[in-house]
Amino acid sequence: MSVLIKGGRILTASDDYVADIYVEDETITLIGESLDQQADKLIDATGKYVLPGCVDPHTHLDMPFGGTVTIDDVESGQTAAAFGGTTTHIDFVIQPQGATFTEALDEWRAKADGKQVIDMGYHMAVTDLKEGGTLEELAQLPDEGVTSYKLFMAYKGALMVDDETLFRTMEVASRTRALVMVHAENGDVIDVLVRQALEAGNTDPLYHALTRPPEAEGEATNRAIQLAHLADAPLYVVHVTCREAVEPIALAREKGWDVWGETCTQYLFNSLDDIAKPDFEGAKYVYSPPVRDKANWDVLWNAVRTDVLSAISTDHCAFLWDGQKTLGRDDFSKIPNGAPGLENRLQMIHEFGVRAGRITLNRMVELLATNPAKLFGLYPHKGTVAVGSDADLVVFDQEKRVTITAANQHSKSDYNLFEGIEVTGSPEVVLLRGHVLVENDELVAKPGIGRYVARARFGEELRPARVTA
Ligand code: URP
Ligand code: ZN
Ligand code: ZN
Repeated sequence: MSVLIKGGRILTASDDYVADIYVEDETITLIGESLDQQADKLIDATGKYVLPGCVDPHTHLDMPFGGTVTIDDVESGQTAAAFGGTTTHIDFVIQPQGATFTEALDEWRAKADGKQVIDMGYHMAVTDLKEGGTLEELAQLPDEGVTSYKLFMAYKGALMVDDETLFRTMEVASRTRALVMVHAENGDVIDVLVRQALEAGNTDPLYHALTRPPEAEGEATNRAIQLAHLADAPLYVVHVTCREAVEPIALAREKGWDVWGETCTQYLFNSLDDIAKPDFEGAKYVYSPPVRDKANWDVLWNAVRTDVLSAISTDHCAFLWDGQKTLGRDDFSKIPNGAPGLENRLQMIHEFGVRAGRITLNRMVELLATNPAKLFGLYPHKGTVAVGSDADLVVFDQEKRVTITAANQHSKSDYNLFEGIEVTGSPEVVLLRGHVLVENDELVAKPGIGRYVARARFGEELRPARVTA
């Protein structure tokens, strides 16, 4: 199968130029002016942007969590991703208590089997080094292409690990050059605050935010940074929301430490006003860390502009409002934590980042594609437009006007965090390894086309010999 894309404005993290792209056997083989190769498929991209398929390094599909299971499985979640211009994502395998890492990975891969619409990799969320996985087994995961370990410093009684588990995992990562990822909130302190709020009769969704203060995020972020430095492990702080967490990351990076961070689309747009909405609507905005006050929006935009934060993910963890979020109608601590977002990241960051003059087009590509690909061992197959790279491409119509609404989304969730927002600019054609996934607002490809990608270790590039199945 060959594809010729004519006349697009090609955007990478560093370049911006008009050229044609020729694709053969899933790979970009030529980029140049006036290419006249015969192709099975011709795409006219004149006047449109052509950017690398976006990479989302933080999603949760088909995940048991909060007494229920996320509403999006691999097929619906990845379909939403494809419509939004994301062609690769990295999901979290959650180690069940008492299970080995191999058992957990096998279970997650079986859940994805035959359903994959885009390419994907896995992080391993370590929950138990005592009864379940061993340090030796953890050290072998990078050989399977699982080159990042995730630790939850919150969700006491469920996913939270103690500092011993955190530090021992960091020591393994230092040896294997896996990237350590942390959900940085102080779970012990939050647990006290939640109990105090409930004892005082404060059960509304707003108390989810009020019992998870910025200080709890700042403390855990700083603790993780110091411990990772002690263990000599590279660290990536997920879903950073506030000044208290941005500052220690900025300081560590100034010192040249291997510390990285991301924020998520929702932390740039949603606020305490949303979670305070009446009639339990605030439950739609219950995720962790929580929405913050609006003063943090500028803090986060500055951090992504200046590379204190190096990526924007979605943390897509979708639930129904009606039937799942409502589990916590009388007790905010029973509301499943998480929200949908996979489909709208590119539209939202283009609108409120690029069109609003906060970041450049190149920086948008870097935040949504190139940096996630580099940090998580997918580059240069993913995350750029170059000869030899996978032909994961988005033809983006920067003039198309779209109103974001749950009624038109591909996630199975019954709401959208950005309901009613109008954006100008949306993906028009999305290709995965040269196969058209989305065209004319239709899913063209069939589930099963996506593959598992075995990722390279931190700081290494993915070589052609990667294992895909
Ligand atoms: O509330 C959230 N973020 N749910 C997903 C799990 C996590 O903490 O990332
Ligand atoms: Zn988290
Ligand atoms: Zn998450």
